[in-house]
Amino acid sequence: QEIKEKYRPQFHFSPKANWMNDPNGMVYNNGVYHLFFQYYPDDKIWGPMHWGHATSKDMVSWKEEPIALYPDSLGYIFSGSAVVDVQNTSGFGKDGKAPLVAIFTHHNPILEKQKTGKHEYQSIAYSLDDGKSWTKYSGNPVLPNPGITDFRDPKVSWYAPQKKWIMTLATKDRITFYSSPNLKTWTRESEFGADAGAHGGVWECPDLFPIMHNGKQVWVLIVNINPGGPNKGSAGQYFLGDFDGKDFKAYSKETKWLDFGADNYAAVTFGNTGDRHVLLGWMSNWQYANQVPTDPWRSANTIARDLGLKSVDKEIYLISVPVKELDALSTPGFSQKSMQVKGQVDLTEKAKNATGLFRLDFDTKNNADFAIVLANQSGNELVIGYDKAANQYYIDRSKSGKTDFEKGFGEKHTAPRLAKSTTISLTLIADAASVELFADAGLTVMTDIFFPDYAMTKLYVKSVSGITIDNLKYSGIRPSMVL
Ligand code: FRU
Repeated sequence: QEIKEKYRPQFHFSPKANWMNDPNGMVYNNGVYHLFFQYYPDDKIWGPMHWGHATSKDMVSWKEEPIALYPDSLGYIFSGSAVVDVQNTSGFGKDGKAPLVAIFTHHNPILEKQKTGKHEYQSIAYSLDDGKSWTKYSGNPVLPNPGITDFRDPKVSWYAPQKKWIMTLATKDRITFYSSPNLKTWTRESEFGADAGAHGGVWECPDLFPIMHNGKQVWVLIVNINPGGPNKGSAGQYFLGDFDGKDFKAYSKETKWLDFGADNYAAVTFGNTGDRHVLLGWMSNWQYANQVPTDPWRSANTIARDLGLKSVDKEIYLISVPVKELDALSTPGFSQKSMQVKGQVDLTEKAKNATGLFRLDFDTKNNADFAIVLANQSGNELVIGYDKAANQYYIDRSKSGKTDFEKGFGEKHTAPRLAKSTTISLTLIADAASVELFADAGLTVMTDIFFPDYAMTKLYVKSVSGITIDNLKYSGIRPSMVL
């Protein structure tokens, strides 16, 4: 059922009320996907952090649950991860039931004021009732601060070859890896990144997991960074390489970007999903997250995305595509095999409503420019396009409605096209206040939020040079938020 609040996402998770940032503790257990998130239940701006909680059967329809973790005498509950401790290495399990264990950062505001530089440390909590109630471990913190100001966002996973847990931790301008037999005692293994990647801001919210590619295991190290993203502010970079339980050796020190848009931050993957790696991010940016004009909540998450690897010439890249579970929410739309576009073609009648999912292909052999325009009765426009001369995709939100809450918001964002083929295929997901562009089967991805004066109910495709679109498909997406 449609949710009428202005800007309320219809099929992306957003909390009923108040402030949300990073997704935390995403884990699959007993047929349920858990999403915890940085949450401040008392206001619409960032404050003392809790872990909010939501559950889903398909990673698309989310139900908000009671708050999972509250701040305590050790500090606020900052970002982290959760694991299913199948072998009960922690000893928290009971009567054969494997515990869910959350590993998070305690951020101590009192120590922070005292400028000790040691106000962040890692702690754990466990649940024996599928995430409903949590007990914090009496021996917290399990990883004290060694003297690193930014020491946070533990992502933990099981490293089967050596039967141990690996913690990937953001430590200011690098990643530090720790290991543990039982989630309670941690040993430093190695570090990565002081001399690699982007350093325009602090490193936060990392992730580490392997993906098979052409019969070979490739390890993916995700490192979120704020500021210093490709289109300003917060963004996610990644490195590909080898990991042996101790060291991560990158194939290249150069940054690759997970998403070139302005609004996919703190993105990490679900745990306990086998060979599947599904990414979810916070659909905002620290540049303006506290100012966006929504009420009574602030922030939503991206659509969940399946990750894979793809070679382009000799380079390997991560690709991301919307999870197939989203298809179950499609409502009838329209499709057309071949459509000539010269100037602007109005698809408003056919699409009924400009939110939903578009897929289309076109050929760029000629000097083709192409854009999809979302618009409304007051003349707001959000333009998503491809510029052949620059070989770039872009999202231009400069005329998209309310942009003046922050001076850099109303800009045009660009992303390189990495694919080499002459045929371009685009998937675009548009919700009330966001678009997610997956170009070339997920090789170039852009996520941007926007705040139009009225809902974007008009839809156009546009090409000045003239192109032919092949296989245009549009379908609506049924509202899936359970409020
Ligand atoms: C990233 C971040 C994390 C931290 C959390 C605090 O957005 O700054 O590094 O744990 O948010 O809310």
